[in-house]
Parts: sequence; C-alpha cells; structure tokens
Amino acid sequence: MQALFLEQIEGTMSATVKDVSADALPAGNVSIDVDWSGINYKDALAITGKGKIIRTFPMIPGIDFSGTVHKSEDPRFHTGQSVLLTGWGVGETHWGGLAEQARVNAEWLVPLPEGLTARNAMIIGTAGFTAMLCVMALEEGGITPENGEILVTGASGGVGSTAIALLNALGYRVVAVSGRNHTHDYLYQLGASEILPRSDFSGDSRPLEKQRWAGVIDTAGGVLLANVLPQMHYNGVVAACGLAGGFALSTTVMPFILRNVRLQGIDSVMVPAVRRTEVWKRLVKTLPTSFYQQATTEIPLAQAADFAAKLLNNDITGRVLVRIR
Ligand SMILES: NC(=O)c1ccc[n+]([C@@H]2O[C@H](COP(=O)([O-])OP(=O)(O)OC[C@H]3O[C@@H](n4cnc5c(N)ncnc54)[C@H](OP(=O)(O)O)[C@@H]3O)[C@@H](O)[C@H]2O)c1
Repeated sequence: MQALFLEQIEGTMSATVKDVSADALPAGNVSIDVDWSGINYKDALAITGKGKIIRTFPMIPGIDFSGTVHKSEDPRFHTGQSVLLTGWGVGETHWGGLAEQARVNAEWLVPLPEGLTARNAMIIGTAGFTAMLCVMALEEGGITPENGEILVTGASGGVGSTAIALLNALGYRVVAVSGRNHTHDYLYQLGASEILPRSDFSGDSRPLEKQRWAGVIDTAGGVLLANVLPQMHYNGVVAACGLAGGFALSTTVMPFILRNVRLQGIDSVMVPAVRRTEVWKRLVKTLPTSFYQQATTEIPLAQAADFAAKLLNNDITGRVLVRIR
C-alpha cells in the first residue's frame, strides 16, 4: 500500500510517499481501505517535524480518514461499510489516515452518517468536527443569536472557516479575525458579516474593556485570546480550541469574576462515541452544500508533505482534502 511514511534516520526526520506492506499495520480489529484524508494543523506539525507530535517512528501521519471497511472482526462493522475516523491518537501514536489502508479499533470508528459522502466527511475532517464542538459549547453556555456577535479567530483556516459557515447557518452574526487581506471575499462568502485584522488583537490589553462579544470561537490562543477575554459580554462564552498564535495565555481573572465569562476548553481527540454521533449529525444538518466547494483544496497523497509546509506558512485557505486512491 502507498503511504506517507515518517522515518527518523540519525536524528533527522524524513517524510516520503512509499510502498509499505499492509502486514506492518498496527494491531486493531477493523481494517479500512482509506479513500480520503486531510491536512489539519496537527498533521502539518507532525509531517514537518515542527511540533513534537510524533514520538515513535516510523509513523504514518493523518489524524483523520474516511473509507470502506476491508475486513472486520467486530460485529458492529462489516466489509463494504462506509466509515470515518477522527482523533483517538491515530496519526500520532497509531498509524494514521495518509495511507491506502489503516487498521484500528472498532471503538474509534464512526459509521458514515446518512446524507454525507466519504469525500465531504473529510472536507469537514477533524477541523470541522472541532468547529461544531465549539458551536455546541456556545449553545450549551446559553449563547443564542439574540445575545450578540460571535467572534471567530484564525478565520481563514480549517476550524475557522467551518465555524463561520456553521454559525451563519444557525443565524448568528459572525465577526471574523484574519491576518490576511486576500481571504476577505472568501470569508464574506462563508457568512462573515465583518472582518477585523489580527493586528487589532496584538497589543497589551486592559483587564476589562468595552463589552463586544457574546461568544468567541478561538483557534489562536496566545496574545489574541488574551485580547479577546476583556471584551466579552457579561455571561459571554469563549470556546478555546487552538494555538495557531501561541500556547501561552497571559491574562487576568477580571473577565471571569466580574463578568461571569466562561472559558470552555475544547478537545476533539477523546470525545465519547455518543457525542461524536451527535456532532456529525449536526454537521450534516447545518452545513450548506456550498461550503464543501468553497472551503476545499483537493490534492493527491504525493503532495501531502508540501501542503503541510504551506499550511504552517499560512498559505492555505480552508481545508486541504487528500485523495488517497
Ligand atoms: N482542540 C482540538 O481538538 C483541536 C482540533 C483541531 C484543531 N485544533 C487547533 O486549532 C487551530 C486551527 O487548526 P486548523 O486545522 O484550522 O489550522 P489552519 O487551517 O492552519 O488555520 C489556522 C489559522 O490561524 C490563523 N493564524 C495563523 N497564524 C496565526 C498567528 N500567528 N496568530 C493568530 N492566528 C494565526 C490563520 O488564519 P488567518 O490567516 O485568517 O488569520 C490560519 O489560517 C490549531 O492550533 C489546531 O491545533 C485543535
């Protein structure tokens, strides 16, 4: 099988597409013929070696995939069934989706939801799945469209793009934060009502500022998140899922203790199965068909390493979909 193979030779990591024996796949009770995968931020960190994502080599990256069951030893899945997978450490500690075959534990798989093709599932991918988790966190925090504007940071990326499309479809007024001028048309098409430059959120902030945001979906962390917290409405909710701008957070407790602001962390990797099914159903129901075209760059497996580097250079808009076969 063809796979993007990460090896470490004399302390240097190489990422090459090569033929790997399917017999070498890790233990698992379901094997899958992979049709589609994607390049998420974590994949890009892993493939370029710029983040300490992979600690055991050799490794096949790819934190998500969709495809067809090849063989199953678990009664919940049968040969020919369409499935998808995100998270669970696949592509980090267990060989992942950037290969023609994968072997995983049945518990990690999600049957492809009704109304979703395998291709569209990976246009959504881990990024879109995380965006829906963030939207649901705002809803669960009581934020409705009537409460006011929602800010989305890292707007032109995979999580940001999907979050804008979802929020717009659900009737929220979305303000996007982007560091790029040339993606503005794209962001308006997805449903942003206003776009603010990243530089508006780059300075030192006061502990409390004018209340502006009912909710925030933050993919950036760092200084940007620190600038957003003092601008939250009373009872506002921030769903924080990312670190594209840095993992450190220097702030004060003032928004939390004087404005009842909630900072809700979002993890997409260990989400329980029941919640996963609910999230995928919401994604299928909410995303407009136009999203799948607007947000997608499709590439073959041979270009995965190049696009991983581009993604970290902030040269990608929306989602990178990888055609495996
Ligand atoms: N918690 C989880 O389970 C989970 C799951 C998926 C993703 N994530 C995290 O969410 C983040 C986004 O993931 P993604 O797949 O959407 O990545 P992505 O496609 O690369 O998008 C990241 C976006 O962040 C913005 N950005 C880039 N550099 C920045 C900087 N220095 N400061 C502020 N913003 C910056 C860019 O948007 P603009 O050019 O428009 O500003 C970029 O498109 C990543 O940190 C990723 O690790 C977390």
